[in-house]
Amino acid sequence: LNMALAEETKAVVAKFDYTDENLNAGVKEFIRQMGEGLEQDGTSLSQIPTYVTAVPNGTEKGMYMAVDLGGTNFRVCSILLNGDTTFNLTYSKVAIPKELMVAKTAGELFAFLAKQIEEFLKTHHQEHFYKAVRRRQTFSAPEGYRDENALQLGFTFSFPVNQIGINKGNLIRWTKGFDIPDAVGKDVCALLQVEIDKLHLPVKVSALVNDTVGTLMARSYTSPGKTGAILGAIFGTGTNGAYIEKLANVKKPMTGEFDKTTGLMVINTEWGSFDNQLNVLPNTTWDIQLDKNTPNPGIQMFEKRVSGMFLGEIVRLTIVDMLKNDDIHLFKDINSSHNDWKSTTNIAPQSGIFQPWGLDSAIMSVAAADNTPELGTLRQSLESDLHVYSPSLEDAQAFKAIAGAIGRRAARLSAVAVGAIVLQTGKLTDPEWAGEAIDIGVDGSLVEHYPYFRDMMYEGLRAIEGIGEEGAKRIRIGIAKDGSGVGAALIALVAAGMEKNQS
Ligand code: BG6
Ligand code: GLC
Repeated sequence: LNMALAEETKAVVAKFDYTDENLNAGVKEFIRQMGEGLEQDGTSLSQIPTYVTAVPNGTEKGMYMAVDLGGTNFRVCSILLNGDTTFNLTYSKVAIPKELMVAKTAGELFAFLAKQIEEFLKTHHQEHFYKAVRRRQTFSAPEGYRDENALQLGFTFSFPVNQIGINKGNLIRWTKGFDIPDAVGKDVCALLQVEIDKLHLPVKVSALVNDTVGTLMARSYTSPGKTGAILGAIFGTGTNGAYIEKLANVKKPMTGEFDKTTGLMVINTEWGSFDNQLNVLPNTTWDIQLDKNTPNPGIQMFEKRVSGMFLGEIVRLTIVDMLKNDDIHLFKDINSSHNDWKSTTNIAPQSGIFQPWGLDSAIMSVAAADNTPELGTLRQSLESDLHVYSPSLEDAQAFKAIAGAIGRRAARLSAVAVGAIVLQTGKLTDPEWAGEAIDIGVDGSLVEHYPYFRDMMYEGLRAIEGIGEEGAKRIRIGIAKDGSGVGAALIALVAAGMEKNQS
């Protein structure tokens, strides 16, 4: 009976194998697509110039605000940079209401964000809140940002934006399930400033930052190495990376003003869209099914195999296919006399297993963490989170193997992106960097909470030609916790400096 299950599980797991050979082919293609993106617009790796030309060194000081629209949460923070690599952070966080992710107009979403900023000021910086209240009472012009003492705010906006200046950028496309066509092509800083002004808040949106860029900045502030971190990467709801490129390699025209003295430019790769054309990415039948059920089929193909928003759905689609097969006894109710596949399972109808996007990737972490012979924790979680009635040991073993294979493929794909960028920077062979650590800042729920994710990534990095055992030892991947808030504050600081220099 269970032989069939064990065999089928093995066959499914094999479909998610991502061999060393695949990995090396992936790296070569990644480097090729990076080059292509530096030369022209409209390529699958966007390689967006960010107009950030230097990373901090830990001595930066001052009070700044930052807001952070990620994929799942909206955070508002104020950050006091102490100038000694430390900072104090005050923050509040709300889940972004699902209906606003697909709102009719951009205004609805941005008005909500401005409202959260107001709430934050009311709780933590009352003098600024009351300034706004007084202005509203006296009907003064709604231009709080013209106030010399306005708070400078860095806006972390974790979506692809065509940046045209430090606080200007037009949305290229939505990702991670957001879909508000009205906002596409518009300057997201202006959209936020308009709503802030309607509330008369003394706040100026002075910098626009992708979360990866923020993470890179924050990592450099807190752990300054030879020249700070070389890459900031997010492995969370979505995935992406920003790295430091030589200005000379950026061949496509750049329209904004920037300081060229460092000879460097931070590039937001938007690697979520690496290889949308599927030259090298693995493509199982479940990857194909998943893509069809998204608002953006054919786009973000790398992200759809790597990040937290999608991994649970790949697991779910795989499991559903196994459930439909009567010969395989996975989550089966052997006493059922029904002949429809849903009722022959031991799973309650309301289970997330039966709903598209209903399997939260978090249970994959539970599966990976439970290494006991009885898999007690995982079985309990299958019961309480997925409404499986009394899952057997064999059920749990199959689930663990499949979820593990999908997680492992994601980590090895992540190694492709990280490894390719390490190779692209040339630091491993640069004599000036001999013996130096190559620092990478990471953030996001996947890398933070999925057990062994970083270990599996390192395993991948060691298998890459040109990195190997020795190279991997020099690569230091560290969490930049709440990185993007601090990073946005650091860029707001740079922006404030630029403004002073101009006036
Ligand atoms: C947070 C950052 O810590 O991580 C955000 O502040 C980022 O900017 C987020 O988008 C990514 O993680 P997740 O898991 O929330 O998508
Ligand atoms: C998506 C977004 C990207 C962001 C990443 C991580 O890939 O397109 O801008 O950095 O998610 O949040």
